[in-house]
Order: sequence, then structure tokens, then C-alpha cells
Amino acid sequence: MLERIQQTADYLRTRVADMPKIAIILGTGLGGLKNHLEDAMVIPYTEIPNFPVSTVEGHSGNLIFGTLAGKRVIAMQGRFHYYEGYNMKEVTFPVRVFKALGVETLFVSNASGGMNKEFQVGDVMTITDHINLFPESPLRGKNYNELGPRFPAMTEAYSKRMIKLADEIAAEKGIRLMHGVYVGVSGPTFETPAEYEFFRVIGGDAVGMSTVPEVIVANHASMEVFGISVITDLGGKDITEVPTHEEVQRAAQKAEPKMCEIIKGLVAKGC
Ligand code: HPA
Repeated sequence: MLERIQQTADYLRTRVADMPKIAIILGTGLGGLKNHLEDAMVIPYTEIPNFPVSTVEGHSGNLIFGTLAGKRVIAMQGRFHYYEGYNMKEVTFPVRVFKALGVETLFVSNASGGMNKEFQVGDVMTITDHINLFPESPLRGKNYNELGPRFPAMTEAYSKRMIKLADEIAAEKGIRLMHGVYVGVSGPTFETPAEYEFFRVIGGDAVGMSTVPEVIVANHASMEVFGISVITDLGGKDITEVPTHEEVQRAAQKAEPKMCEIIKGLVAKGC
């Protein structure tokens, strides 16, 4: 594994001179951030040794190196989901490579279903913490001490400093920014009403099928993490609307400008 990470990092160093210290995983709802990147250089995953290739509709596969708010960033256009059949090491491989390249800050974004009764479709939520309900940890198996400790703390998995900055940016821009706990599940089914209810009762505010594996690995690798989620549907025993992939995409697209403003503001001020 160490060799594969180094191989990929070495290849990217041959392609990119000025290596960013910030990486951004563009989930559903943040794809439009690529239009804000200056001097963008696009490297398809297919050209990158050892990189998995993404398969899902609405998720293209490219690493984009560029400048955002005056800072160099790597944007990951298209992520690898556990439900697609990738194993946890594949899902989190890009985060390992980012660390090997010298990245210190990871931004993650996603779409999620809201259980918190205050939430509305189209809200954006800064992730304050998560509950991992994936069947497996990306850290299961041999630990490489070069990458991080056997038993990493997850006490501040999402940077409190960046959450505070995000609140300030949202207030300045007049964006309603919710706070909440993200429940990570394997999918690919959306939840039953009883499951949404269960996730709310155990302390979750929103549920989705990504992000948690990457955040675990970023914490293992001592990166500072900021997570943001767009609420694309609501779930619970009183909710009768049926969530669909199309509806999720549509709601996420509408919230995109808010997500972009917050990420841009954070990159400008916070890293
Ligand atoms: N559940 C799980 N994942 C999701 C949802 C949901 O309701 N909405 C968007 N991603």
C-alpha cells in the first residue's frame, strides 16, 4: 500500500509543479466549484496510476489542480462510494495520496437526507461530527505507522476552528448555515421511515452514503477537516415524499452557490 501511494504521488509530482496544501472532494452539490478554479489543469483518473475509476451517473472522474481564492487547491471531481463496490482502501486511496503530496487541509462535501425537524430541503449543514454506520472501517487491517496511529482519536474529526469561520462567513453572506451530525451508511437504498427515525434518535441530523471513510483516513493522517452537506430530501415517519437520485441532484444544484461561497470564504480566510 505504501508503495502504491508513493507511485501515485510521484506521478502527480511529474505533472504538477506547485503542489497545493488544500484538497477538496466535490460531492453532489459542489461540482460547480470547478468553475471557480483559475488556471485549472484537469487530470482524468484514468491517467493516474493506481486510481480507481468512478462509475456513477453525475460523478465524473478528474483531479483538477487550480487556484481558488488565491490558494492552490486539488479538487476531486467524482469520488468513490462504497456502494459502487469499491473496498474501503480504494474509497480512501485519494486521501492517502493527498497526504503524501503534502496536503494539510481536506474539505469534503456531500448530499444528505435530513432527519432534524428544523431542516428544509436546500439547507446547507456544516458537519460538526459523524456517526459511522458503514459495516467496515477504512483502517481495518494492518496499520502502517508511517501513515498514522493504530488507534486514532476522533474527538475533533471536524475542525472547530473552521466551523467557527464558516459560521462567520455564512453570517456575512446571509446564508442560513445549519449545524449537524452526519450519519454515514453504506446505501445504496435510501432509508425506510423507521431508519430515518432511528438515526435521528441516536443523535443524527442528516444521513448519507459517503464522506465518513475519507474523514476517518484524513484524521488518521492528522489532516484538518471541514465537511459540508446539502440537505436534498427529508426523512422520518411523518414524511411521505419519496427521494430519488434526480431529486437529490436537483436540490443539490440549487444549493450549490451557498456551498461554493462558504468553501471559497474558508479557503481565503482559513487555510
Ligand atoms: N439517505 C441517504 N443518502 C442520501 C440521502 C438520503 O436520504 N439523500 C442524499 N443522499
